[in-house]
Amino acid sequence: MNETVKDISAINWEAVRAQFPILHQEVNGKPLVYLDNGASSQMPQVVIDRLNRYHSFEHSNVHRGIHSLSQHATDEYEATRDKVRTFINAEHLEEIIFTTGTTDSINLVANSYGRSNFQAGDEIMVTEMEHHANIVPWQIVAEQTGASLKVIPIDENGELIMEAFHRLLSDKTRMIAVIHVSNALGTINPVEEIIKAAHNRNIPVLIDGAQAVPHSKVDVQALDADFYSFSAHKMCGPTGFGILYGKKEFLEAMPPYRGGGDMIDRVTFEKTTWNDLPHKFEAGTPPIAAGVGFGAAIDYIESIGMENIAARERELVEYATRKLSEIQGLTLVGTASEKASVISFLLDGIHPTDAGTILDKEGVAVRTGHHCAQPVMDHFSIPGTLRASISFYNNEHDIDRLIEAIEYTKEFFV
Ligand code: ALA
Repeated sequence: MNETVKDISAINWEAVRAQFPILHQEVNGKPLVYLDNGASSQMPQVVIDRLNRYHSFEHSNVHRGIHSLSQHATDEYEATRDKVRTFINAEHLEEIIFTTGTTDSINLVANSYGRSNFQAGDEIMVTEMEHHANIVPWQIVAEQTGASLKVIPIDENGELIMEAFHRLLSDKTRMIAVIHVSNALGTINPVEEIIKAAHNRNIPVLIDGAQAVPHSKVDVQALDADFYSFSAHKMCGPTGFGILYGKKEFLEAMPPYRGGGDMIDRVTFEKTTWNDLPHKFEAGTPPIAAGVGFGAAIDYIESIGMENIAARERELVEYATRKLSEIQGLTLVGTASEKASVISFLLDGIHPTDAGTILDKEGVAVRTGHHCAQPVMDHFSIPGTLRASISFYNNEHDIDRLIEAIEYTKEFFV
């Protein structure tokens, strides 16, 4: 995540912003300021056009038809797999499993790998800052197998306490599942150190990269992650589509997670054999349009450059953090030294939901609540936060509008 600083002034960021039609409208009578990119990002016109073209002229089922439409749809859908492989620098194409999103990807590993490898007394390590999607699947499998969860605690800045991590590692640890960038706090976790320490003990590591891949260059081979998951809809793509990267040796040894069409080789009532990777894990008709659309989203992101995107977002996050810090009665929640995209905060004496409602009336969209990370809220003894999450198509004016709307909210509740 430590990209070299780029000269991003050569990029016309206003022209980039102009490519997102949804941003150019009024909400509640005010020009929209969209700062909920952590929940879902927006699609540029090229991705919308690609989806329209697919639905208008190209739709057919994949991997099934001898007819031309089906073969074309298959080619377009499978082209996304190669784009993803290149994008995250996976070694093999069959290491890219298509899922419906990060949640589905983690459930796949928890159920397939976990149920066939965990037993009573085993330990699964997660962090206190996980999204529920990287807690609950492990809890369910722990109950089924007799394993238990160990939790790496966080400190008051929202950083992992790494001495605790090293202390909690034991001969019983069978899996470590860690969020790369916290969706509630913005903390960038030292996943390289975690993976290294885990591999010294032959423990596999799953990284939840839902908030990392959209904001930085991720190289799964350099990281040496065993599993890495992310979602299309947080990176300019459609909803309902996501990725599980898994090292081939793990995926080959794992049993299927869901059964049905496409994932089989030969079915008889006595015994069924499985299709090869990656199809072994892709039962049923997949979200084809979303997959094709995600291919267009990756092309779009690469046309700007992931490092340029990361640098521009860093600039905006620094600007927003500085401006927010100047507001009296505003407390930042999550002050890690390494942060990306997400800024959580509270306003003195105003419930986050009430504040979020007033911001919405001012045309400013932020997320409020626990952000599917209730243990984080428990850690800080708060009901939730307001969360502004920034994308490269935001600008300084968006941040200024957020600041004005916060000042207005404070006056509203005086
Ligand atoms: N996980 C998404 C978020 O943080 C939905 O908002």
